[in-house]
Amino acid sequence: MSKKGTPMNSKTGSVSGYKQKLDALLSKIRSLPNDSLEKTIAVAVGVSLFCAVFVAFSAVVLRPLQIANKKLDIDKNIVTVAGLISESEAGDADLVRAALGDIETKLVELETGEFNDSIDIETFDARKVSGDPELGMEIPRQDDIAHIKRRAKYAKVYLVKKGGKLNAMILPVSGYGLWSTMYGFLALEADGKTVRGINFYDQAETPGLGGEVVNPKWRAIWKGKKVYNDQGEPVLGLIKGNVDPSKPGSEYQVDGLAGATLTSQGVSNLIKYWLGQNGFGPFLEKFEKSKTPEGAA
Ligand SMILES: Cc1cc2nc3c(=O)[nH]c(=O)nc-3n(C[C@H](O)[C@H](O)[C@H](O)COP(=O)(O)O)c2cc1C
Repeated sequence: MSKKGTPMNSKTGSVSGYKQKLDALLSKIRSLPNDSLEKTIAVAVGVSLFCAVFVAFSAVVLRPLQIANKKLDIDKNIVTVAGLISESEAGDADLVRAALGDIETKLVELETGEFNDSIDIETFDARKVSGDPELGMEIPRQDDIAHIKRRAKYAKVYLVKKGGKLNAMILPVSGYGLWSTMYGFLALEADGKTVRGINFYDQAETPGLGGEVVNPKWRAIWKGKKVYNDQGEPVLGLIKGNVDPSKPGSEYQVDGLAGATLTSQGVSNLIKYWLGQNGFGPFLEKFEKSKTPEGAA
């Protein structure tokens, strides 16, 4: 019970009580002279409160839209890196969705290279679970050539199928550049050894320098490059300057990014990590033996 005998849990009573108090406070503020310090502070606090509520409300309301846009951006990257649609067509969400129809997404256990069907692939997020003690793991320092410290034990692979046959495979890759961890996709031809395309959907390297990793002209020179040497080691990497196609080994080399040696090194490192034994190596070896990814399961 309140002092005056009004029940404390009476909602109407307490709401009207607060309203009265608020009205009294507002009329007190209004009655203050405009140039008084109290009125200035009260108006500033009121405006700040209003803005805070507005920002918080917008963040909550726009969150689902942000998530949908982020997913669409990743989907765009997946279908364009595989060459299913062009960059200019990627602005059309319907074309992106249609191209996704040619892609089968599977979850691979990286250590064994085998498919895993027991984890829900729809909700699986490799970046989120990398810190999870069960689904993620710390990368031993000597193996962490991509400088990412942790990774998920599983990764999504995107298998492009045409007429029921494997046409390409898209592998998620990530590695540290100069300022940021760069997240992207590497698309390989159906042989699992030849590059079809590369792209980065999340990176914060300097625009015009390391940020040129997203430049379509630079990305175009990756097509046809070979990942593995005759010993099966992932040797594809960026060199300083431009590749001389007449020189032996040029099929394993990509032009370095001008004025961005550290980002270039980061890209070489992430290719070596993710295409090596601690990345998709075991999966690609199983695929090579079976010649169909399904055979790797
Ligand atoms: C403002 C600023 C931004 C830079 N951004 C990058 C970058 O994104 N990636 C990178 O590799 N180097 C960047 N650099 C250059 C590096 O600091 C470093 O000098 C360079 O990688 C050295 O190699 P290079 O000049 O031979 O390419 C930047 C330098 C400055 C001053």
